[in-house]
Amino acid sequence: MGYKIYSRTKIAGLIFSLLLVLLISCNDKVAEPDKIESRVNQLLTRMTLDEKIGQMTQIDPGFAGGEEQLKKSVRDGRYGSLLNLFGVEKVNEMQKIAIEESRLGIPLLIGRDVIHGYRTIFPIPLGMAASWNPEIVKKAFRISAIECSSQGIKWTFAPMIDITWDPRWGRIAEGCGEDPFLASTLSKAMVEGIQGDDLTDPTAVAACAKHYVGYGFSEAGRDYNTTYISEPVLRNVVLKPFKAAKDAGALTFMSGFNDLNGIPASGNEFTLKEILRKEWGFNGMVVSDWSSISEMISHGFCANEKEAALKALKAGVDMEMSSLTYAGNIKQLLQEGKIDQQMVDEAVKNILRVKFKLGLFENPYTKAEAQKQMLNPDFLDHARKVARESAVLLKNKDKALPLSQKIRSVAVIGPLADSPRDQLGTWVFDGKAENSVTPLTAFKEVLGSEKVNFIKCLQYSRDKKKNDFAKTIALAKKSEAIVYFGGEEWILSGEGQARGEINLPGAQDELINELAKTGKPLIVVIMAGRPLAIGNVLDKADAVLYGWHGGSMAGPALADLIFGKESPSGKLPVTFVKGSGQIPFYYYHNNTGRPATAKSWTPMDSIPVVNPQSSLGYKSFHLDYGFTPLLPFGFGLSYTTFKYSDLSLSSMSMSTSGSITVKASVSNTGEMDADEIVQLYVRDRVGSITRPVKELKGYKRISLAQGKQAQVEFQLSAKDLEFFNGHQNVIEPGEFDIWIGPNSADGLHGEFTIQ
Ligand code: NOJ
Repeated sequence: MGYKIYSRTKIAGLIFSLLLVLLISCNDKVAEPDKIESRVNQLLTRMTLDEKIGQMTQIDPGFAGGEEQLKKSVRDGRYGSLLNLFGVEKVNEMQKIAIEESRLGIPLLIGRDVIHGYRTIFPIPLGMAASWNPEIVKKAFRISAIECSSQGIKWTFAPMIDITWDPRWGRIAEGCGEDPFLASTLSKAMVEGIQGDDLTDPTAVAACAKHYVGYGFSEAGRDYNTTYISEPVLRNVVLKPFKAAKDAGALTFMSGFNDLNGIPASGNEFTLKEILRKEWGFNGMVVSDWSSISEMISHGFCANEKEAALKALKAGVDMEMSSLTYAGNIKQLLQEGKIDQQMVDEAVKNILRVKFKLGLFENPYTKAEAQKQMLNPDFLDHARKVARESAVLLKNKDKALPLSQKIRSVAVIGPLADSPRDQLGTWVFDGKAENSVTPLTAFKEVLGSEKVNFIKCLQYSRDKKKNDFAKTIALAKKSEAIVYFGGEEWILSGEGQARGEINLPGAQDELINELAKTGKPLIVVIMAGRPLAIGNVLDKADAVLYGWHGGSMAGPALADLIFGKESPSGKLPVTFVKGSGQIPFYYYHNNTGRPATAKSWTPMDSIPVVNPQSSLGYKSFHLDYGFTPLLPFGFGLSYTTFKYSDLSLSSMSMSTSGSITVKASVSNTGEMDADEIVQLYVRDRVGSITRPVKELKGYKRISLAQGKQAQVEFQLSAKDLEFFNGHQNVIEPGEFDIWIGPNSADGLHGEFTIQ
C-alpha cells in the first residue's frame, strides 16, 4: 500500500512536470505572435493621440515641407512611414531621428515601389507571368528584396495583382494578366519572394497586395476610371489573387483609386471590412493609394476631407498615403463622436504589428555593406533566365528561327534594338539604363560586330518619319536575315498610360511591310508593355517573338533564343485581340445563348447589298473581327514539337468532397530539348449561374529532352470547382469537360461528373 501511494505521488509528480514542460514549450511556440500582440498593446497605451495619428500618416519627403521640416516632423512622431526616401544614408539618418529623438522611438517604415526589380530589373510582371514559372518569379522577387532592403527599403508596393481584361489599360504591364488561377499562383510566389522565410531577416521586405480591389476593370481601360464588377466576377475572378496573397502572409494591402459599383475602393466597407478583415481574417495593415482618400471628394463620394477621412477609417484603411485627411481630421472626428478611439487604436495596432513583425524595433538600421550585393552576377543571370522564359514565340514559319550562329550577316533594325531604358519597362525608379544589355550589344557579342548591320530607322516607337526607309531597305537587302526589334517605348504603358488603340505605334507597320517585301527572312521581336494588336506583323513576318519589356538582360536573353541556345517556352498570360474593338476578350467568357461558329460568322465584306439580312448568322460575333481572338490565352510555340496523348482520369466521377487524378502523356517529338507548359482546363456545363467556357485549374512547366516522353499528372478536387453563384460558394453536381493541352484553345478532351 505504502509503495502504491509513493508510486502514485511520483507518477502524479511526473505527469505534472511533463505537463509543465509541454506547456512551456507550447508557449514558446506561440510566444512570437503573443509577444508581438502584447508589445503592440503596451506601446499603444503609451501613445498620445497625435502620435497615433502620426503612425497613420505616410508622406513622400518631397512633400514634407523641406528637409528640416521633415526631420522635425519625424522627431515629433508625425509620420509612421515615408515613401520614396532615397539612399541608405538618408534612410539611416531619418531612422536615427525616429529611434533616438522621437518620444517613443518608434521606427519608420520605409516604402517604395519596387515592382519588377530594384537595380537588377526583371521583365515587367506581365512578362514574368508569361513564364508560368512561380519558382523563378519567386526568386526574382527575392532578389529585388535583397537589393532594395540594402537601401533601407523594408516595404514594397508589390505585388500588383489586378486582373484585367483590357490591354488598353497601361497598367496591364504591372499585373499577371487575365487569369485568376495563374495570377493566384504567381501572387503567392511574389509575396513569398518579397518577404522571404524569416520576416526578421535584414533582407525581408513587407509585401503590399494592390490595388484592392477592382482597379483593373477601369472602364474602357482608361486609368482611374469607374469600375462595375458583379459579385460573382469579383469573387470568382478579381479577388482570387488577393486571397492567395493574404494566404501567403502578405503583411499589407493597398486600397485602390477606383470606385467599385459606386463605392470608392478606399472607402469600401464591403471589400475592406466584410471580405478582407472578417471573411479572410486579415490582421495586417491597409494603406491607401496615393491620395486615394482625398480623391473620394472628386469621386463625389465625400463632400470634404473630413468626410473622406471618416469614410476611409470606417472602411478600415489604416494608413493614408500622401494626402493628409487623417492628420487634419481624426481629432475633430473623435471630438464629434463620429468615430471612437477604438477605431483609431485598431488602425495603429495594424501598423505597429507590421513594424514589430519585421523586427524594426530591434534592427532599425541598414548596414552599408548590404549594398555590395547590388547587381550581383547571379542576379543578372537570373534576370536573363526569367527574360528567356518570359518570351513567347508566336510564329515560326518554316523554322525561320533559330538563326544559325554561322550566319554571314544580320540586319538589326528598329527602335527597340538598342534602347536601354525602354527595355526596362514601366515602374523602374532605381534600375539604370546603363546596366541594360540591349539586343544590339548581345548580337554583336554572339556574331561579332562586323556581321551586324544596324540601323534604327525609326528613332522611337511612335516615330512616323520615313526618312531612313530607303537606307534601311538597302541594308536589309545586303543582309542574310532581318531581325526587327519594335513595339512600344516604356512610357506607353504603366500608370496613367492608357491607349485607345493598341496597334504598333508610329510607322512600324509600314516599315515591316517594306522589310517583308525584300524577301529576306524577317524575324520580328516585339518589346512592349501590353499585348499589342499585331495582326499585320503575324501576317508579314516569318517569325515573331514577343519579348515584352524584358528588363536589364533582355538583350542577351533574346539573343539566347534567337540563336537557339534555348527554345522559347513562354505562353501568353493574356488573350491577344485583333483590335481594340474586340475588348474585353478573355478566354473564360460565358457561352451566350448564341455562340458563334466558323459557319455562322458572316464576314462584313461577304454581306450582299441586296437582301443583306438573309446572309447574317445572328450569332455572337463581330462582322469585322469574327469571334476568335488573334491568339488565345496560354498560346506559345517552341522550336521543338510536343505531342499530347493518353488522357486518363482516375475516375469518371467524384463526390462534392472528392478528387480525381488526371494524367496525360507529353512527348517531345521535335529536334531540340525544351520546356513545355502543360495546361489543365475544365468546363462546368450547367450551373446555377452561367459558367465560363473554360477555366484554367492547373499547369506544369516540364523540361523534356528531344525524343522523350513524360506523364503529367494533376490532382483536381471538387473544391477546385467551387464558385460563387451570387448568393454563396457552391460545388454543384453535374457534368464537366476537362482538357489537358498546350493552350486554352487546344487539348485532349475528357469528361467527368460531380455527384
Ligand atoms: C500610385 C500607384 O497607383 C501605386 O501603385 C503606387 O504604389 C503608389 N502610387 C506609390 O507610388
